[in-house]
Amino acid sequence: MRIEDPQLLTAFRELDVEWKPAVSLAELTYLGIGGTTDLLSILRHDAIPDLLNLLDGHGIPHKFLGGGSNLLVIDGELPFVVLQLASRDPDVVIEGNIASVDAAADLGRTVTFCAKHNLGGMEGLIGVPGTVGGALRMNAGAYGTQIGSYVREVKLYRAAGRRLETLHGRQISFEYRHTSFASDDMMLSVKLELPSKPYPEILQGIRICNEKRRASQPLGQKSAGCIFKNPPGASAGRMIDELGLKGFAVGDARVSERHANFFINAGHASAADMLALIAGVRDRVRGAYGVTLEYEVVVWNA
Ligand code: EPU
Repeated sequence: MRIEDPQLLTAFRELDVEWKPAVSLAELTYLGIGGTTDLLSILRHDAIPDLLNLLDGHGIPHKFLGGGSNLLVIDGELPFVVLQLASRDPDVVIEGNIASVDAAADLGRTVTFCAKHNLGGMEGLIGVPGTVGGALRMNAGAYGTQIGSYVREVKLYRAAGRRLETLHGRQISFEYRHTSFASDDMMLSVKLELPSKPYPEILQGIRICNEKRRASQPLGQKSAGCIFKNPPGASAGRMIDELGLKGFAVGDARVSERHANFFINAGHASAADMLALIAGVRDRVRGAYGVTLEYEVVVWNA
C-alpha cells in the first residue's frame, strides 16, 4: 500500500514519523518472506494516538511490526502499511532490580545488558530472536523462563481506547505463548523486576541455554522459530518428527531436519509455499493424533 497524499506526508513529519516507501517485508522478517508496503517509523511514543487517528481518518489499514522474528507475511503488494517503533538510545535503564526497557530493544541484548548489571532470571530467553515488545505480547519463553514472570509494568497504546496506558503486571495475564493484550495493542516499554545474581553465574546459565539451543534448533537458517504451539502435555516437534515429516517440502518451504517444529525458507519460498506446508503438516498431525495444532507463528494475510 502506498501513501502519496502530500498533506499526510507533511503531517507525518510534524509527528516525527519517518515515512519509508516501498519496503520489502522479506527483508524485515527472519523467514525472509513477505511483500512490499510503506513503513512508518515512530520516533516519539506520544505521537502514536495522533498518527493512528490520521491513518484511520484516511482509511489506511495498518499493522505493528516488532522484530519480525515470529511472523509470516503474504506476498505481493500488501493491503496495509506497517508501523514500527524506532530504536532509542539508551533502550535499557537500570535502577536497583528494575530494568526499564524500550519495546524496540533487542531481547538478547537486553538479557546480556541486565546480566552485566548482575540482574538474572532471563537466561533461558537468550537466543530468542526479536524485540522485547514482541516477546512481551506473546509471552515468549524457553528453557523454563517466560518473560511475563518478570513484568512489573507495561506502557502501551491501546487501540480500543485510542490512548496510551500504563498497566501494572497484575492487570495482565501471561500464559503459555499467550497474553491478555488485545491483538491491536502496541507495546511501548516495560519495567522488568529481575532477581539479583552475580554476572558469572548468569553467564554460565546463558552458555548452557545457548548450547542446548545450538544442539537442537536450526540456527542460522531462515525460520520463524517454532511454527506451532505445543499442545498440552505434548511436543509438536516430536509429533511431526514421528510422522517422518522432517525434510517434507512445498517449493522452498521445508520442515527442518534438525527440529521438526521449525519450518525453513531454504531459498525463495513464497508465503503460499509456507502456508501450504503449514496446512499440510497440520492435516497430517490431525489425521494421526486427532490434535489440531495451534499456530505460534503470526500470519499477516490481510
Ligand atoms: N523432539 C523430537 N524431534 C524434533 C524436535 C523435538 O523428537 O524434531 C523432541 C525432543 O527430543 C524433546 C521434545 O521433543 O524430547 C521437546 O523438544 P524441545 O526440547 O526442542 O522443545 P520443544 O517443545 O520442541 C519448546 C519451545 C521452543 C523453545 C524450547 C526450549 C514451543 C512451541 N517451543 O520447544 O520455543 O526454544 O522449548 O525451551 O513452545 C519458539 O517458541 O519459537 C520456540 C522455538
